[in-house]
Amino acid sequence: SRTAAVIPAAGRGVRLGPGAPKALRALSGTPMLIHAVRAMAASRAVSLVVVVAPPDGAAEVKTLLADHALPERTDFVVVPGGATRQESVKLGLDALPADVGIVLVHDAARPLVPVDTVDGVIEAVRDGAPAVVPALPVADTVKEVEPGAPGEPEPVVATPERARLRAVQTPQGFDRATLVRAHGAAVVGEGATDDAGLVERLGEPVVLVPGHEEAFKVTRPLDLVLAEAVLARRRA
Ligand code: C5P
Repeated sequence: SRTAAVIPAAGRGVRLGPGAPKALRALSGTPMLIHAVRAMAASRAVSLVVVVAPPDGAAEVKTLLADHALPERTDFVVVPGGATRQESVKLGLDALPADVGIVLVHDAARPLVPVDTVDGVIEAVRDGAPAVVPALPVADTVKEVEPGAPGEPEPVVATPERARLRAVQTPQGFDRATLVRAHGAAVVGEGATDDAGLVERLGEPVVLVPGHEEAFKVTRPLDLVLAEAVLARRRA
């Protein structure tokens, strides 16, 4: 069976500052989404990439893909997204053909993930794990808070032991049937920030494999500086 990658790219990217939808912003002259699409297609195992575009931006994204060089052995499909990441991923899953057995879900906002990380995730799913997540240890100590009024100091509730925490990345890899079941059981608006979390709610096992520093999420303006620096280093 085939392996497909779903790329949710329908976010507005408000934390990055004013401008175009995040996925369409340029990194060293090329839209972030194109970098992310190439990162998935770089894996020999990935034969289909489904891009979930902003709800009103599917035509624009189709044009964008047509205007950039992409591997010929990979198929590309564009579908319109939804109001939340979770809805966008669901719409991407709905577009998968029947012969897809393994699904990667990859944030357009992680344009620089190395192919070895992608292949490591796929391999772990092939080896039998229904849900696989690339992850790294956290550098910062993380506090749980009781969110208060904006601008007010926030009371700390707990400090989880840092050595037991991991920051998770994408692509997250899944046995297709498990991921479809997880999204089917998910409640819209319950605020799942990753797909593996939905699989956890089913009670199915989720395992971590090593992530990569270059798989960081471009979220705030400083992340753009880092992304440009990584690309410059790759060109050197
Ligand atoms: O907002 P956040 O950084 O968590 O977004 C992660 C990914 O989900 C991004 O690639 C973004 O484009 C995507 N997303 C989406 N549909 C939404 C919101 C976010 O596809 N409605």
